[in-house]
Amino acid sequence: MSAHSSVMIPNYRIRPFKPEDLEAVERINRVFLPENYPSYFFMENYRRFPRSFFVAEDEGGNVVGYVMCRVESHYTKSETLILGHILSIAVSKDHRRKGIGEALMLKAEEGLLSYNCDAVYLEVRVSNEPAIRLYEKLGYKKLGIIPFYYADGEDAFLMYKILREGLDDSLIYQALGNRVIR
Ligand SMILES: CC(C)(COP(=O)(O)OP(=O)(O)OC[C@H]1O[C@@H](n2cnc3c(N)ncnc32)[C@H](O)[C@@H]1OP(=O)(O)O)[C@@H](O)C(=O)NCCC(=O)NCCS
Repeated sequence: MSAHSSVMIPNYRIRPFKPEDLEAVERINRVFLPENYPSYFFMENYRRFPRSFFVAEDEGGNVVGYVMCRVESHYTKSETLILGHILSIAVSKDHRRKGIGEALMLKAEEGLLSYNCDAVYLEVRVSNEPAIRLYEKLGYKKLGIIPFYYADGEDAFLMYKILREGLDDSLIYQALGNRVIR
């Protein structure tokens, strides 16, 4: 399945982000997440990594969720890893627990694979049980805690998932371990 194909979940469609979606995505970001970004941040990530920025729309064509990613280089003793970074994901409250978050994550991973990512990682509030459960369901593991990561002082878990077969977890720790305590 190509990164630009549509994943069907009953009554919803996951499709690539388009610039016309910016307002709706920003609205969802502002309402459902304390971490908000200026418009250019969304557009810059879209411009650089269009194959890993997706929205979910309902049958009426309303955008009800999104996932935005970035591709980064990280260094280990032996090689440079290409890591996908899930920057932001949210689903409107009325549309949760229907599989949209999971579908958005899977499409994001597919897109990140198309950029040759070796693994994918993200930060999540230690109190954000629904999101942590979602990531664990998809096979993400906790690398450690980033103390005081959020503006209000809350800690984050740094979680990751290996995409390249055979890649050892220790390389992820070499690349990102300096950000966490275990
Ligand atoms: C996290 C979020 C994106 C999940 O979206 P969603 O569409 O409701 O998730 P899904 O329906 O695909 O759920 C997939 C799995 O995640 C887990 N999960 C999701 N919500 C959960 C909840 N409230 N409690 C427990 N587990 C939950 C479950 O394992 C679920 O699988 P199941 O339904 O088979 O049990 C959504 O809750 C959200 O937008 N939260 C606010 C923004 C946010 O916190 N973003 C993450 C920042 S790191």
